[in-house]
Amino acid sequence: MNRFLDLELLDDQTIASLLTTASALQRDPISDVLRGRVLGLVFMNPSVRTLASFQSGMAQLGGSSFVVTPGQGSWGFETQDGVVMDGTFAEHVKEGIPVLAQYADALGVRCFAEGKDLATDLAEPVLGAIAAASPVPLVNLESEANHPCQALADWKTLDDLDVPRDGKFVLSWAFHPRPLPLAVPTAVVTMAARRGMDVTVLRPEGYGLPAQVMETAAQAASFSGGAVRETDDRAEAMEGAHVVYAKSWHAPAAYGDVEAEARLREGLRDWRVAEEWFGVARPDARFMHCLPVRRNVVVADAVLDGARSVVVQQAGNRLHVQKAVLLEMLGGRDT
Ligand code: CP
Repeated sequence: MNRFLDLELLDDQTIASLLTTASALQRDPISDVLRGRVLGLVFMNPSVRTLASFQSGMAQLGGSSFVVTPGQGSWGFETQDGVVMDGTFAEHVKEGIPVLAQYADALGVRCFAEGKDLATDLAEPVLGAIAAASPVPLVNLESEANHPCQALADWKTLDDLDVPRDGKFVLSWAFHPRPLPLAVPTAVVTMAARRGMDVTVLRPEGYGLPAQVMETAAQAASFSGGAVRETDDRAEAMEGAHVVYAKSWHAPAAYGDVEAEARLREGLRDWRVAEEWFGVARPDARFMHCLPVRRNVVVADAVLDGARSVVVQQAGNRLHVQKAVLLEMLGGRDT
């Protein structure tokens, strides 16, 4: 495996193999198999889980890692082609990435969406520029429109909890004070569809996921036997749900228009997941979120602190699935 950029670029057998390896690594976490190997982590945006779990994972496998934060202690990286670099950025990825690749056996990159133009962000130009410049294996640590590490960890969490393959999965928009990227909802809706689940996207008017995202998820569902639909009817969505996955995202209907987006969002503060939401769900319905999460804004304390919340378990699985990815990339298996 030379690239881990999008779960949709992997076949079913590879995903199954990664999940099996991740569970084996969870049971038996320490080895020397990546001794002498180095992972370079490029974070253009903040992180807690992704940064810490990749560094921990490399150490547990006998390797090591370094972190570069362009523009925050390291030279800022330009990613566009043909620009006159007389602004903020001192270094182009066309040099920066191959340079780092000489110090590392694999690289990871986090590059959030700019949030100005939806079509541009969905095309992932920054991830594309870095992938084109990287001569070594590359991991997507959350890009403009995808977060495959999160999606794979969430898949493992669903398996660990014995959530049925064809169970009901509700991806619910939730209020947040700022418009957030589409990367997690995009990755998660497709993951759940690919797993064969009955997926409902619950969202207010104006927050329907982009057609391109829904089409990708629907196509995944058509192969797996799952289904994907969207609604703004909470009771209908929650009826019989096995899982509620909350996430805020930028309104596609007002993408890039900060004031219009704020006006749209202002009336939606009651889109905060509360225990009452689960009244018509299955009694053992789970609550999921990728973290970080704003308590009592996105979700009430009672849900996060209650038995249905599995958010910490999800974050724990980041470590195990990412170690499986690193082994596939650096452990000598050619897939
Ligand atoms: N879920 C996730 O990617 O967390 P971080 O932003 O802290 O890495």
